[in-house]
Amino acid sequence: MQRRDCFRQLMGLVAASPLWAQQADDVMGPVNIHEFEEAAKRKMHRMAYDFIAGGVEDEYTLRANREAFGRVAILPRVMIDTTDVSTEIELLGLKLKSPIIIAPTGGKNLVLPNADEIVAKGALARETLICSATGVQKLLQDGKPLLWWSNTTGSSTKAQAVGYAKRVEDGGGKGIVVTVDNAYQSNRDRNNRNRFDYGYMQGGVPSDAETRKPVNPARAAMWGPHTPAMTWEYINWLKGASSMPVIIKGVLHPEDAALAVKHGADAVVVSNHGGRQLDGAMGTLDALPDVVEAVGGKVPVLMDGGLRRGGDILKAMALGARAVLVGRAPLWGLGAFGQPGVERVLQLLTDETRLAMALAGKRRISEIDKTIARRMTIWR
Ligand SMILES: Cc1cc2nc3c(=O)[nH]c(=O)nc-3n(C[C@H](O)[C@H](O)[C@H](O)COP(=O)(O)O)c2cc1C
Repeated sequence: MQRRDCFRQLMGLVAASPLWAQQADDVMGPVNIHEFEEAAKRKMHRMAYDFIAGGVEDEYTLRANREAFGRVAILPRVMIDTTDVSTEIELLGLKLKSPIIIAPTGGKNLVLPNADEIVAKGALARETLICSATGVQKLLQDGKPLLWWSNTTGSSTKAQAVGYAKRVEDGGGKGIVVTVDNAYQSNRDRNNRNRFDYGYMQGGVPSDAETRKPVNPARAAMWGPHTPAMTWEYINWLKGASSMPVIIKGVLHPEDAALAVKHGADAVVVSNHGGRQLDGAMGTLDALPDVVEAVGGKVPVLMDGGLRRGGDILKAMALGARAVLVGRAPLWGLGAFGQPGVERVLQLLTDETRLAMALAGKRRISEIDKTIARRMTIWR
């Protein structure tokens, strides 16, 4: 037997031993976000895992988000004193410990009951800005210093928009994030295959004994539109009703980014909903530079989609993102270990970002710019 085969056999024995299982089951076991996903997958119901991990239809866009990071390379700077590296930023009136924001994710109850509040508690513990439609009210009523942007997919009347903005502001919100790429529920094969019912997003995974009706792909989605009539006017309604910043999430086209700014948006988020809305939409890191150019520094540009490492975050910021949102990463922490898992994931990503900055010769987020990034071309 060759030495390499011996080594493989030994590793197999180690991985199968109860000691290893115990370590992997500890919140300090996973060493990166990918391993948190594996740990969560082991513990979660298949329907819940698929709901979170999946994208729309053939999942081209889901993959495009990750693949885009492989086409950008960093050219680090050297011989710079990086003894003191800080990930702090200021964003729309908030002082943040890190540029990492928790993205809005519906359906967390598929993972655990009351999961929105659990994630919010994790955000509070890590002093992280959370963007969420729900789960924060109790913490804010208890006077906790939670940094919260409310999330909405919009409403069809001005009266509803005004009422919503006032409720958020009175409730302690620091901004409103309007998701603009969600006019219709999309056509997600994994959910259709699992006979997923959107009612489970509130009530949790059904018992295996429950009879689930087959889903009629695509048409079912068109039957349940969210906000197909929403236009740019919606921003004016919100802005007129409160003093909070309005952030537009789900922009890929540079002309839309320019229109958002023209209509009063205080920030735009380059996002394709984590590859969950239109399959074939561009990967967000690929879309980012043109949006940054179109916005021309008038408002901050944020991005999300496929961020799993501090190095990914460094690349996003080098291409012009002021801050980033993470969707699935905290959910993997949640699914694997509950609130401690959420906290650990946020800590890992922040630590990796700080280290990536140090190794790139950047002491402050404001020092990161496109001079350290190059797009890779494929050589044949
Ligand atoms: C399970 C799940 C639910 C989501 N629900 C929402 C939502 O309700 N509103 C929204 O604007 N985006 C939603 N998103 C998209 C995220 O806000 C974010 O854009 C995306 O997850 C970023 O990609 P990442 O998961 O690769 O980090 C959801 C994403 C996931 C994974």
